[in-house]
Amino acid sequence: MIKPTIAYPCFSLVKNDTLLEYGGPDGELGASLRYLSQKFTMVTPEAKATLNDIATEEFAHAEMMATIFHQLTQGLTKEQIIDSGLDAYYVNHGLGVYPASAAGIPFSACALQSKGDPITDLYEDMAAEQKARSTYEYLIDLTDDPDVLAPLRFLREREVVHFQRFGEALDIARDYLNQQHYFFMNKYGCDD
Ligand SMILES: [Fe+2]
Repeated sequence: MIKPTIAYPCFSLVKNDTLLEYGGPDGELGASLRYLSQKFTMVTPEAKATLNDIATEEFAHAEMMATIFHQLTQGLTKEQIIDSGLDAYYVNHGLGVYPASAAGIPFSACALQSKGDPITDLYEDMAAEQKARSTYEYLIDLTDDPDVLAPLRFLREREVVHFQRFGEALDIARDYLNQQHYFFMNKYGCDD
């Protein structure tokens, strides 16, 4: 009996000889880098803080996924590796933790954006949280290991909270942009 296995960061889940892509484009590493990058062009302190807070939390979630993968793959036998469909990953990375999709595609920043427009970015962030929530639900569907289910459910809940917090940040940013502002120096801080 092979235990469910989750790999980070484009995490894979192995169960009953099935390798499922967790989904690099919607993974925790991408979320963390997306929010960390976008925060610099947010227009209010609240929005900057929201992105900064969630970026750091997502990175901690990436570590959780890496830990789960490591704990579940440690000591796998040759037969378990082959039977679980982990053989291609093993040839490339052994049982090390590597940021690639289940198909072996390395993590790429092509999966995220930073447009310099707070409204555009916050809409992307809300969509990213919904995609992450869906992905966790699919993972939950495919495992029955209570030690794996508990953190997956926790992480799913956090995506729901993040979606709500980005919605609040969007309201604040929109309100700010809709107000009339008076600047005593160049709005963008340029010399010209
Ligand atoms: Fe999230």
